[in-house]
Amino acid sequence: MNNINSTKLLSFPELGDDRGQLVVIEGERTVPFIPKRIFYIYGSVKNVVRGCHANIKSHFVLFNVSGSCKVKVKDSFDNEKIYDLHEPNVAVYLPNLIWKEMYDFSSDSILLCLSNEYYCKDEYIRSFDEYIKYCNEQ
Ligand code: TYD
Repeated sequence: MNNINSTKLLSFPELGDDRGQLVVIEGERTVPFIPKRIFYIYGSVKNVVRGCHANIKSHFVLFNVSGSCKVKVKDSFDNEKIYDLHEPNVAVYLPNLIWKEMYDFSSDSILLCLSNEYYCKDEYIRSFDEYIKYCNEQ
């Protein structure tokens, strides 16, 4: 069963010169999977909380390519951790079966999300109680 110790920050080299910066994401090389799905979240303000779910199958890598937000992760062992994303070359990796909440968005926040799976609403667990129950049944 995954726990918050299987979440981690990923740091990417900035390939910069006097023209600006460039960050490269390579599936199964610099991120742990080959992305099948890419989406991004913007226009969320400070008091909004997004996420509030766990995924049965999907893993994610989240980058604040602009601005900042916080990502709170919880597991079924009563552990929690908060990641502060605020650099375009630093991401957090979240494996499946980790509860996640994104909040404290800056007004310029663009949260880029990569996933190893196509979207399937049935693999989202949107109640924390159900998440704990599902984990305990595994
Ligand atoms: P939702 O999962 O509620 O967003 P968040 O976790 O950031 O709070 O998704 C918002 C809407 O977008 C919801 O109607 C489902 C839809 N959606 C897709 O169709 N495909 C996707 O890959 C994602 C992430 C969401």
